[in-house]
Amino acid sequence: PDLFGPARRNSRGWDLTHAPDLDEIETARAPYRTTTASAAPLIAAEARPHRQQPVLNPATRAKVGTVHLASDIDIAVALKAARPWQTPARDRAAVLHRAAGLYEENFGPLLALLTREAGKTLPDAVGELREAVDFLRYYANAGEAAQDPARGVFACISPWNFPLAIFTGQIAAALAAGNGVLAKPAEQTPLIAHDAVRLLHKAGVPKTALQLLPGNGTVGAALTCAPQVQGVAFTGATETARIIRRAMATHLSPGTPLIAETGGLNAMIVDSTALPEQAVADILASAFQSSGQRCSALRCLYLQEDIAEPFQKMLFGAMAELHLGDPWNLSTDLGPLIDADARSRIAAYIATARARDRVLWQGLAPETGHFLPPTALKVSGIKEMAQEIFGPVLHIATYRTEDLDKVIADINATGYGLTFGLHSRIDGRVQNLADRLAVGNIYVNRNQIGAIVGSQPFGGEGLSGTGPKAGGPRYLARFTTRATPPDNG
Ligand code: NAD
Ligand code: ALA
Repeated sequence: PDLFGPARRNSRGWDLTHAPDLDEIETARAPYRTTTASAAPLIAAEARPHRQQPVLNPATRAKVGTVHLASDIDIAVALKAARPWQTPARDRAAVLHRAAGLYEENFGPLLALLTREAGKTLPDAVGELREAVDFLRYYANAGEAAQDPARGVFACISPWNFPLAIFTGQIAAALAAGNGVLAKPAEQTPLIAHDAVRLLHKAGVPKTALQLLPGNGTVGAALTCAPQVQGVAFTGATETARIIRRAMATHLSPGTPLIAETGGLNAMIVDSTALPEQAVADILASAFQSSGQRCSALRCLYLQEDIAEPFQKMLFGAMAELHLGDPWNLSTDLGPLIDADARSRIAAYIATARARDRVLWQGLAPETGHFLPPTALKVSGIKEMAQEIFGPVLHIATYRTEDLDKVIADINATGYGLTFGLHSRIDGRVQNLADRLAVGNIYVNRNQIGAIVGSQPFGGEGLSGTGPKAGGPRYLARFTTRATPPDNG
């Protein structure tokens, strides 16, 4: 499909440095600053009493709403009622375009909830809303151009760190291809998922083609064992993807596709030709934006030995300027971690590093809420890191130019392959590293987060995902009966 052609329309943006744009956002989100919301299963059956749980703001611990958890009966009813969306592709596309418009119209409540339920700063919330809208329009257009029939019913299982964009992207792709969807949002972020499904239903997606099942991992696990499911789209931890693959191998027909987008151990190399001011700004965004809670985030920075000392001084000076606090406030750069478990897991990791005298620099964090300060740890290289640390922790290693081959081999040897960043003004080196690194997305002389739908297809290889890349021209085919092996394309 000509996804760059006249049918392409970007989501609406705001200039957050422009007072009238900010005023417009403030006016639209202000009424939703203290309201409480509710999420419940949206299935093709009568509502019945459910087990309830409060949903708390990770920054303030104030109540944001209540979630009514899907029961085993809800799951069984939803599975029985689920149907592919059998209507001409052009009609499906029209509905998804309508949904994109509804998301844009409802920017006030959606931005408010992204901040209050998921701890997103305003720039992150705006970026996420725009990504969700872009996914809807991009897959609507791709679905119209697709030639092959839908597979049937997909389970779409999503993480909390992009509770609107990834949640919507999986669903939009499955629906655009003509599948039915059973959507299982992350347990931490059911409210925003509930709002999204309501807007999709309002746009015209039939209730049998899109059902919502809020709950914890056991709800997802039930879906990945259900014979009514003909495909699974999963985004989350690598270990969870392994469990899902095993469940599908045992319970579902051979050949049932699993599209898994998982974690990363992402590196950046900064050599002595880099512009230090630009590299520092890009490192701050890559490692600390969203408090490091992005799969794409920078985890291990390699600094060329010759520049390491002055560069780190500049970097730690810039880290000291980062402001932590309630993400609703415009002055906040770093919001909270998503919950108490995430905070205590990473705090314990930092404590171990401190006991080994590895803390190079650490900021300060508010006492209440699930905050952790931006932290820099010294490592000999990425080999020391066993797993993804999903928070504001930057590991720093130094290297000599003659060791560059070993650095590349070590990065590839992690088995992950999501993003890589390079700051260098040596063209030959840029090309050489890009050719040799086994990762999905490479960013040169910029930050390594925030891929744009349609322009920068996003996804990894190895332990980071099966492919095809989300927001790219090959993604939709995996939701059809077309015999395409996953190819990370
Ligand atoms: P997670 O794996 O804990 O949970 C993801 C989803 O899977 C949730 O909805 C959860 O309830 C569900 N789940 C848990 N156990 C399950 C099971 N046994 N069967 C089926 N479903 C189950 O991940 P998370 O903590 O929500 O998200 C963070 C992780 O996601 C990080 O590792 C991050 O790198 C990754 N991520 C990857 C991408 C990407 O595009 N590659 C994007 C965002 C996040
Ligand atoms: N697509 C998201 C990013 O690039 C995960 O940061």
